[in-house]
Amino acid sequence: MTQVTTTKAIPNGQPARASLSPKAQNIYNSLWASVFYSGKVTSKIVMVCSAVRQEGASTTACALALAGSVPSGADRVALVDFNLRAPSLHKYLKLKPGPGVAEILIEGRDPASVAQRVSGGLDLYSAGNEAGRSLEILKSQNVKEFFRMLSEGYDYIIVDAAAVNHHPDAQILASTVPDILLVARAEQTPREAVAQAKKRLEAGAGSVVGMVMNMRTYPIPKFLYKRV
Ligand SMILES: Nc1ncnc2c1ncn2[C@@H]1O[C@H](COP(=O)(O)OP(=O)(O)OP(=O)(O)O)[C@@H](O)[C@H]1O
Ligand SMILES: [Mg+2]
Repeated sequence: MTQVTTTKAIPNGQPARASLSPKAQNIYNSLWASVFYSGKVTSKIVMVCSAVRQEGASTTACALALAGSVPSGADRVALVDFNLRAPSLHKYLKLKPGPGVAEILIEGRDPASVAQRVSGGLDLYSAGNEAGRSLEILKSQNVKEFFRMLSEGYDYIIVDAAAVNHHPDAQILASTVPDILLVARAEQTPREAVAQAKKRLEAGAGSVVGMVMNMRTYPIPKFLYKRV
């Protein structure tokens, strides 16, 4: 399993904005390479989720999409907020909560009509104004078709999903988006919780292609760390 460790890459504990600091760009570039060039992914669509809440899944998804996209749009990246329980990507990118995924899957809205431009190479599909109708959305016959359409229009697709051990969403979605990046908060998330999440995702036909140990802190002060 590919393991990537991130430090507190985003200054002041703030989520990613429309651009990353050079340090964060470096870290998430490596993550991008580990994910998409690992030989483990079966497609260009990756779901990012965590075992329990507030581990940094959305921050990771957002920063990964920002790092992997370039304003010139040489590669087209779509960031999809499928965390219908606690949508946050639009807040992190200072965009609208909807219309988005909910309106595409419930009302049959054209995906292109709800895409929000982050940069020339990155579009956000926010969860939508009707995201609360989560089970209806997840059970929609149109989920596969939605991802098929995205695959035609984009080179890479990053999908944010709700915490695996709290909601069935990621497990359900795994049958359509089987390549999964699991985020855990370093020194905090119990090993058993991560193991349980992995088991659930695999039961849903998903495969964990990598792990992110997020918000790792170093016990040795930085000035000393440089000398040892
Ligand atoms: N690498 C990081 N550096 C600094 N702060 C971070 C980092 N990762 C996450 N955070 C902070 O932790 C909090 C939770 O992050 P985030 O929203 O990404 O978690 P989540 O797993 O998506 O949560 P939820 O379960 O609600 O979807 C946010 O306040 C975010 O700013
Ligand atoms: Mg989130």
